[in-house]
Amino acid sequence: MSETNERQYDILIWGVTGFTGTLVYEYFLEHGNEDLRVAVGGRNEEKIQKILDNYRDRYTQKVKKTGVFVCDSSDEKGLTEIVSKTLVVISTVGPFARYGEPIVAACANMGTDYCDITGELPWVNRMDRKYTEIAAKNKAHIVSMCGFDCIPSELGGLMVTKEIKDKYKLETRDLKATFFEYTFSPSGGTIETMFDVKLEKNIENDTYAYIERKKGIAGLFSMLKMFRVYYDRDFKRWQSVFPSAFVDIPVVLRTNHFNKYGSKFDYALTSSSKSIFGSIITTIAVIGFMTSIYIPIFGSIIRKLLPKPGEGPSLEQRVNGHLDFRLIGVSAPVSEKQPESSKKVYGRINISNDPGYLET
Ligand SMILES: NC(=O)c1ccc[n+]([C@@H]2O[C@H](COP(=O)([O-])OP(=O)(O)OC[C@H]3O[C@@H](n4cnc5c(N)ncnc54)[C@H](OP(=O)(O)O)[C@@H]3O)[C@@H](O)[C@H]2O)c1
Repeated sequence: MSETNERQYDILIWGVTGFTGTLVYEYFLEHGNEDLRVAVGGRNEEKIQKILDNYRDRYTQKVKKTGVFVCDSSDEKGLTEIVSKTLVVISTVGPFARYGEPIVAACANMGTDYCDITGELPWVNRMDRKYTEIAAKNKAHIVSMCGFDCIPSELGGLMVTKEIKDKYKLETRDLKATFFEYTFSPSGGTIETMFDVKLEKNIENDTYAYIERKKGIAGLFSMLKMFRVYYDRDFKRWQSVFPSAFVDIPVVLRTNHFNKYGSKFDYALTSSSKSIFGSIITTIAVIGFMTSIYIPIFGSIIRKLLPKPGEGPSLEQRVNGHLDFRLIGVSAPVSEKQPESSKKVYGRINISNDPGYLET
């Protein structure tokens, strides 16, 4: 990151006209201190001005001081100029595989710190491969996945494995987490992105380079295992697949490669239900949704029923949303001769608002 006062703004919210971008701007208006130099950006000046007008009465001074940048996400020259005027970029312009690369490139080249809220793993890996070295040379940090993907898994994993290390001086062997109870609804941009991710064919990407993965038939079985319905005695609930698991699990395993939670570390992520029927319905819904992504005729019907880009959960839905995320870490045995001597650590992340749009 370059020196603070060399640049005109501290933070640029890129994609302020989107559902999530507007919420991010509102967060800074509400919580940012008076000295924070905030800028907003997007491709449509009229829409940006409407957002500012909406907040002008409530936060007159802060809105007056807000910098405005207008540029299309494909305009590399324009983006380079914009990011050179700020210390940090927060990007909410997605689907990221469609629109996200030029601003990452501009930040890496201009030494501007960057973070985003994507959950598009193949794209993140492509950016990692292309820009990490350039960013490091220019002292910029490129940090993706700072939203619901993968904050509960990453922070929960860090919390539990640290406790095992600090309290018992042991490695973690198994970590399992479950969305124990939750209510939240996706925005239109997230739905659009889920239908977009399939376009990114290169699934054999760098995240997996850090992970020992089963290949062939064994790999297929371990994938299918994620769709099983079973009762977990520790969580005392029925378990089924949770869609984020396909992103969060490889990301947490990658983090283990760098943070060294354990040499035989494994991570499982599921969704809990009180009854077996709840778990079966969740599994059918997830399989149905995933199938619709790949079968255009189903996809077009499902998309008609779901929020469109720019739309998302209402304020009432966001305030009434919640998440109870529970984790259990099991250490390596104290002695290899006594496999039952492992220690167990319980973790919990309790969020009392919508976890995707108010809290993460
Ligand atoms: N991980 C998480 O927890 C999480 C949570 C929320 C969202 N997300 C992700 O964040 C992304 C945004 O979601 P959302 O619901 O906020 O979407 P959205 O409402 O559709 O907003 C998309 C934004 O991108 C802008 N945009 C699109 N094309 C552009 C271009 N060519 N140049 C410049 N700007 C462009 C849009 O501008 P216009 O307004 O001018 O169209 C808008 O500001 C999605 O990929 C979603 O999956 C992740």
